[in-house]
Amino acid sequence: MITLSDITKVYKNGPLEVEALSRINLQINEGEFVAIMGTSGSGKSTLMNIIGCLDIPTSGTYVLDGQEVQTLNEDELSKVRNRKIGFVFQSFNLLGRQTVLQNVTLPMMYAGMPRDHRQERALHLLEKVGLEGRVKHRPTELSGGQKQRVAIARALTMGAPILLADEPTGNLDSKSSHDIMALFKEIHQEGTTIVLVTHEPDIAEHADRILLFGDGKLLKDTRKGSVPS
Ligand SMILES: Nc1ncnc2c1ncn2[C@@H]1O[C@H](COP(=O)(O)OP(=O)(O)O)[C@@H](O)[C@H]1O
Ligand SMILES: [Mg+2]
Repeated sequence: MITLSDITKVYKNGPLEVEALSRINLQINEGEFVAIMGTSGSGKSTLMNIIGCLDIPTSGTYVLDGQEVQTLNEDELSKVRNRKIGFVFQSFNLLGRQTVLQNVTLPMMYAGMPRDHRQERALHLLEKVGLEGRVKHRPTELSGGQKQRVAIARALTMGAPILLADEPTGNLDSKSSHDIMALFKEIHQEGTTIVLVTHEPDIAEHADRILLFGDGKLLKDTRKGSVPS
């Protein structure tokens, strides 16, 4: 489903160059639940942005669902993002002036889904994440864990087969973190491929496969119940 071949990403700021990723080779199959670990600055977010088609590599090829991402134009890319990828971020990225319900319906509005349908789907997803009692609230009236549930519901609206989460529990206490992980597990069991970045080993333990990054390189690729390769 996700195939990265020899992916390198160099950031250029004037004369300064940072190689954030160097020659990454990686395949993630449909239905996997993968955790990405590594110290700060090791390239985890850069990798997530490339997988999510938010950024393009400097060299190498990325094939997503049989499509070579480099060959797509802006329009095609945004379609791919919309249909195939759901994003969850550490800082939630909710719209503060909008209600919980509006935050969740927004991507469907952009996609031109009929009003009745998006309302119904948003309510269904908010119920799924346990927030049916908070649909009229604003994000500021919610706890961190609840905000992240809204973000997860929003990420699921388009029925994307891949859910990317960059340190989704980074701003949460340990109880909320584990509740959020239980939710990711449920979503995974329903068939969504999940790639999640975390610093915390006990969060990564929820995944079936752990990728360890260091200094822009993939250092270790461990599947649950197998020896590291
Ligand atoms: N937009 C950018 N411009 C320049 N350098 C960047 C940019 N984004 C990230 N970097 C650099 O790339 C490296 C990897 O960053 P990042 O992928 O954010 O790491 P992580 O998510 O593992 O903390 C770091 O050295 C960081 O400073
Ligand atoms: Mg990061």
